[in-house]
Amino acid sequence: MPKIVLDHVTKRFDKFVAVDDLSLVIEDRDFITLLGPSGCGKTTTLRMIAGLETPTEGRITIGDTVVFDSSSGVDISPAKRNIGFLFQNYALWPHMTVYDNIAFGLENLKWSSSDIDKRVREMLQMLKIEQFEKRYPSELSGGQQQRVAIARTLAPSPKVLFMDEPLSNLDAKLRLEMRSELKRLHVDTDSTFVYVTHDQMEAMALATKICLMEKGKLQQYAPPLEVYDYPANLFVADFVGNPTMNFLPVDAKRVSGNTYSFSMLGKDLLFKGNCAIEEDSFKAVVGIRPEFIKLGEGQFSGVVYTTLPSGMETTVKIKCGDDMVTAVVFGSVDYSHSLDMNFSVSGNGILLFSKESGKMLSTGTIEMMS
Ligand SMILES: Nc1ncnc2c1ncn2[C@@H]1O[C@H](COP(=O)(O)OP(=O)(O)OP(=O)(O)O)[C@@H](O)[C@H]1O
Ligand SMILES: [Mg+2]
Repeated sequence: MPKIVLDHVTKRFDKFVAVDDLSLVIEDRDFITLLGPSGCGKTTTLRMIAGLETPTEGRITIGDTVVFDSSSGVDISPAKRNIGFLFQNYALWPHMTVYDNIAFGLENLKWSSSDIDKRVREMLQMLKIEQFEKRYPSELSGGQQQRVAIARTLAPSPKVLFMDEPLSNLDAKLRLEMRSELKRLHVDTDSTFVYVTHDQMEAMALATKICLMEKGKLQQYAPPLEVYDYPANLFVADFVGNPTMNFLPVDAKRVSGNTYSFSMLGKDLLFKGNCAIEEDSFKAVVGIRPEFIKLGEGQFSGVVYTTLPSGMETTVKIKCGDDMVTAVVFGSVDYSHSLDMNFSVSGNGILLFSKESGKMLSTGTIEMMS
């Protein structure tokens, strides 16, 4: 089974750089999500691996085969890359039944009719669409059509499956259902999945590794929880997590070792870092995930600005001098507006960023200066 290697891959459309010097290793059986805002180069990256777009520079290897190399002129056609596609607009053949739609690709591959029948039945069962085999696409709901499209794509057992926002036209409930089915399918099929989405929740839930891009440049490539807990820079920290991380600008000064002092939210504080930081004194941004803010007691104080209950959890915004901080509490609370609220900042997952470079310098804890 193949691993996919992108080696300094760049794609330019005239002077515009859509993908900028991307190097990436996708291990066999990974579930990679290409994540990032609209226009960051996700689809272009996927299309280059698949062979539908020619890179301007670089080299792409699938398994032992170099499928593209700008320096030696190698460019293997998509059909010979042993891959499957599932695009956002999954066009099923309207004049064919569900069964025939799934069988169609296998007939093209000249499978025997008994092998085709066996495989189509397996797919119908795996995607729980057996009862629809004789129906036409127009007689199915969007979600059912989606499953037929997935069955059709998986039927020839592609070693690598590419999906470009395949769930984007489903309703919220179906999306969630299909997400867990896709994750299950990944385990059941032993294939490598490369999945494009701009939905960070979807990327977190599905991926073994997230490849987060911005303006054609790779920002971080790591497992979801690593991206969440140790974002490489301010862009990543801001993009991943809902509600978003709190960012508070401070002037950091070294006290000793990795301990820095600054004032924040009206208090003089010490940040005890876990990593060595070079600068003694610098403009920094402190990053605090909303779940690290504990409401009700603590040395910080502010007033409730809004409370947004969503059932299982509640987002509370607290105005603290000129700053606004967002906290998330489990369960349902309904604080009245302008209520005085004390809070604390807990845990060792507080982040310190360089304001100038945006880089995350260290995780650490925050304490009151005594
Ligand atoms: N054929 C093309 N000619 C010129 N520019 C292109 C072409 N295809 C894509 N681009 C540009 O390259 C950039 C990356 O496009 P791409 O489709 O990869 O973005 P994306 O990350 O998939 O965005 P979205 O989430 O909106 O689908 C965009 O700015 C786009 O306008
Ligand atoms: Mg796209």
